[in-house]
Amino acid sequence: MNAPLRIAVAGLGTVGAALCRLIERHGNELALRCGRPVALTGVSARDRRKDRGLNLAGVTWYDDPVALAGDPGNQVFVELIGGAAGAAAASVAAALAAGKHVVTANKALLAKDGVALAQRAEAAGVSLNFEAAAAGGIPIIKTLREALAGNTVNRVYGILNGTCNYILTRMEQEHLSFAECLAAAQRLGYAEADPTFDIEGYDTAHKLALLTAIAFGTEIDAGSIYTEGIAGVTPADIEAADELGYRIKLLGVASRTDSGIEQRVHPAMVPKSSAIARIDGVTNAVAVEADFVGQLVLAGAGAGGDATASSVMSDIADIARGNRVGTLGRPASSLEPYRKAGIRTHEGGYYVRLSVFDRPGAFAAIAQRMADRAISLESIVQRRRAPRSAAPGHLVPVEPQPVILITYATTETAMREALETIKLDGHIVGEPQMIRIEEFG
Ligand SMILES: NC(=O)c1ccc[n+]([C@@H]2O[C@H](COP(=O)([O-])OP(=O)(O)OC[C@H]3O[C@@H](n4cnc5c(N)ncnc54)[C@H](OP(=O)(O)O)[C@@H]3O)[C@@H](O)[C@H]2O)c1
Repeated sequence: MNAPLRIAVAGLGTVGAALCRLIERHGNELALRCGRPVALTGVSARDRRKDRGLNLAGVTWYDDPVALAGDPGNQVFVELIGGAAGAAAASVAAALAAGKHVVTANKALLAKDGVALAQRAEAAGVSLNFEAAAAGGIPIIKTLREALAGNTVNRVYGILNGTCNYILTRMEQEHLSFAECLAAAQRLGYAEADPTFDIEGYDTAHKLALLTAIAFGTEIDAGSIYTEGIAGVTPADIEAADELGYRIKLLGVASRTDSGIEQRVHPAMVPKSSAIARIDGVTNAVAVEADFVGQLVLAGAGAGGDATASSVMSDIADIARGNRVGTLGRPASSLEPYRKAGIRTHEGGYYVRLSVFDRPGAFAAIAQRMADRAISLESIVQRRRAPRSAAPGHLVPVEPQPVILITYATTETAMREALETIKLDGHIVGEPQMIRIEEFG
């Protein structure tokens, strides 16, 4: 048996503690699979006295993760602290400067500094692996970077945030409002007290930015992603989607288009028959469409200590075996600048829900506004509400009625312009609801 691979783990929270347990439980099997034992030699966290249920006998404790990163007693630095700056960033920088291999689950750090860190790792001749950062326990990085090396990827998309998928699933299955489902997610610990990062789509955007870079060979550009959250999705939309053969999911989508790479995060109508429509609750899924393999869908736990530790361990195992692949699947210097295709050029079908005054000519005027911009309607359905009765001697008030439109493929610009003129015409009340339809080959 070869000499052990000595690893240091900074951060002993949900993921770090699970990783230590995994190494303890599967140490013998890991040694066989990697050709050498994996030995935990150093750890760091904030509170040394916290009972973490871990056996850390013989493991050196560091209060300062930067000092741990520089300790020549270990060969691999595993960063499980989190955050785009502070201790996580400082310790990863120190480890690379010391010529150590680095493994991290930190999407925030990579979305911000991934390319620069990949360049530093490359210059130092070490690995910088991040399987756990994009989809927790789902091995999508290895799949894109290695298993699909012989393909040109055309689209990568997925459900990358368990909190949002949990909320949308409950809204659909129990006919509840967004606010009720968010409160339930918070009670169950699926959503943070401040859920903004998840429900506004930013977490999905960070993960998508990493997938895009590997899938399309471009620099990471999280700031360019069009991002829309799920707070505006109503039970009326979910019910209409159901009747029309769709389900609503928060998707992160990156696709190759004539004008560049389109990256977007938003609620999408997905056909019920698609694999992605059947992903319920906190489960995540990532799908890839590529020229030789066709379509591939991976589904599983996108978060949770054990599932995430499983991905971290796969990165460590690669280092133990000497399997070194460039961080983003190719030399960092060969990554192309990200050429953004803006959301306005997006092409696809749209679901639109309007609150329309029930008066002669309103329907025709709406259809005409769509036709003016060459938008073809696949269906237009009025979901008539029961009329209110008028007080004696009064006319029945004209009440707005929900109208659902489904369009054939058009551009986002045409859709937005048509809705703007429909609003100005005065036939509708409030803002139109618009949800993009995502079709799969
Ligand atoms: N949790 C998941 O399901 C999941 C899934 C995918 C990716 N990730 C990523 O994995 C990373 C870790 O997440 P987590 O959920 O395990 O976080 P966590 O439970 O909050 O744990 C963070 C750990 O970092 C330690 N820490 C914080 N500041 C430190 C400092 N200045 N010096 C040394 N240690 C410090 C904490 O120490 P104390 O314990 O002493 O406070 C704690 O042990 C993050 O990048 C996250 O995005 C997590």
